[in-house]
Amino acid sequence: MKGVILAGGMGTRLVPLTLITNKHLLPVYDKPMILYPIETLERSGVTDIMVVCGKEHGGHFMNFLGSGREYGVKLSYALQNDSGGIAAALGLAEDFIGNEKVAVILGDNIFENNFLEDIRKFETLNGAMVFLKSVADPKRFGVAEIKNGKIMNVIEKPKEPKSDLAIVGFYLYDSDVFSKIKTLKPSLRNELEITDVQNFYLEEGNLHYGILNGFWSDAGTFESLYKSATWASGRTK
Ligand code: G1P
Repeated sequence: MKGVILAGGMGTRLVPLTLITNKHLLPVYDKPMILYPIETLERSGVTDIMVVCGKEHGGHFMNFLGSGREYGVKLSYALQNDSGGIAAALGLAEDFIGNEKVAVILGDNIFENNFLEDIRKFETLNGAMVFLKSVADPKRFGVAEIKNGKIMNVIEKPKEPKSDLAIVGFYLYDSDVFSKIKTLKPSLRNELEITDVQNFYLEEGNLHYGILNGFWSDAGTFESLYKSATWASGRTK
């Protein structure tokens, strides 16, 4: 299975840091944020990876990461002209993925564990697979409601969350994901939302899920960046 790392966006929640460089190049303790998703994919057996990033910082990513050899992976790059949302960024990987399944990871998501077993399981399934983690602040995330072991609904940043199960930024899709992205309409924040992609699969009865164990955090706010760095510093001691 190939992988895609989504490393675009303006990082508005981290201004003024993101006025200097792209969010995914900021440090999380002892290394740039982008290395965490690269390592998560590598530990999950996914080594043929496309990095999607904004055109302003494409050169910085390439300078730093190069071919990926140093990290045990093979990198390709796609540039976004404008930030159109997570789903729009994933759409740029269509030719790279072709008819294969794809593992997608958000560039600011830090995972302790790998997804080796989940990927093995997903190879035998159709549709999509998301991963859920109980959090204290579900309003910040996509949230899933589970009943009788099934996902009932997925809602992006709900004002009144029906559960505390955040949908983390690691997704497995079959290659149908690209035709689904083409039918998406922009959300109120004018982005093509990844949660709307999950909804297509949910309607088809093809949205699977796993419960995530181990540490997980995004690193896209000051609080979560600090939390991630604190976790990373403990891990390296
Ligand atoms: C994105 C997704 C959201 C997901 C989160 C995980 O939110 O839209 O569904 O729960 O990543 O980090 P964003 O950080 O872009 O607001």
